[in-house]
Amino acid sequence: MKILVLNGPNINFLGIREPQIYGSQTYQNLIDKISAYCKEKSVDVSFFQSNHEGALVDAIQQAYFDKVDGIVFNPAAYTHTSIAILDAVKAVSIPTVEVHISRVEARDDFRQISYIRQVAIETITGKGFDGYLEAIDVLLNQNESKN
Ligand code: DQA
Repeated sequence: MKILVLNGPNINFLGIREPQIYGSQTYQNLIDKISAYCKEKSVDVSFFQSNHEGALVDAIQQAYFDKVDGIVFNPAAYTHTSIAILDAVKAVSIPTVEVHISRVEARDDFRQISYIRQVAIETITGKGFDGYLEAIDVLLNQNESKN
């Protein structure tokens, strides 16, 4: 099974940005944790992070050509603003799990809108880095029930 882990703006600043909200671990720590988990589960995982909306849309379209089976996606601030990202996920029809490190539902009003949520097969919030591992399990389970 092939999974793409996609992260939006400022996720590369984990460990530096608001550690009281996002923790002290870095983006590299996140990649290492997910890589180790995927190795254990025999998942072929790849990673992409960008601060640019169009680059994220391009990565979602590329996932279609690369025959990716599932996307773990933290669109970060674009969650709350981007119809282009929603349309891209709809266009490729790849099962996508929405992940947020923080508990967005307990935060600002403007974080209560999620465009991606209407197309995500599941949303995981407030579980820190473990939320990404849970998202991988969701994709593995749904792939199993499909086969
Ligand atoms: C986030 C929550 C978003 O509201 C915020 O803009 C982020 C990170 C999270 O992982 O908790 O950048 O997606």
